[in-house]
Amino acid sequence: MKPVFFIFLLLILSNGLHAEPLTKDQHQQAQRLFIALGCRACHDFNKSGSNLANSLDRIGLKLSEAEILQKLQRPPRKLDAEDKFMPSYQTTSIEQLKLLSRFLANRK
Ligand code: HEC
Repeated sequence: MKPVFFIFLLLILSNGLHAEPLTKDQHQQAQRLFIALGCRACHDFNKSGSNLANSLDRIGLKLSEAEILQKLQRPPRKLDAEDKFMPSYQTTSIEQLKLLSRFLANRK
């Protein structure tokens, strides 16, 4: 691939993963939510948490805000052979889930 196409592709990809920044207040609120909802029981974050599931430290490089939101809203998966599953947070308010998703999408 020619370098110019590669750069173009990178630009498209990185724009798709662009996340709006949070205010200081929103940032603190999202951090509290992350702890209150027990995400660290399964995910590593800032070197605190479990490694049952993947680390969310740089999740913004992989998933967009909308994709993260979807993960939180979908029904829980069936337990697989390794008994790993992601619970659903459908009962948490949409405002809180959006804030949390934006917070994580900013982790790069
Ligand atoms: C009971 C364990 C558990 C808890 C608690 C949990 N998760 Fe997960 N999560 C998983 C597992 C297992 C996966 C991978 C399988 C899947 O996607 O269903 C996952 C996947 C994810 C992914 C996709 C990661 C990727 O690399 O594709 C995101 C984002 C995520 N979780 C966010 C959260 C957030 C935010 C919370 C707290 C609100 C949370 N999780 C709580 C187990 C958990």
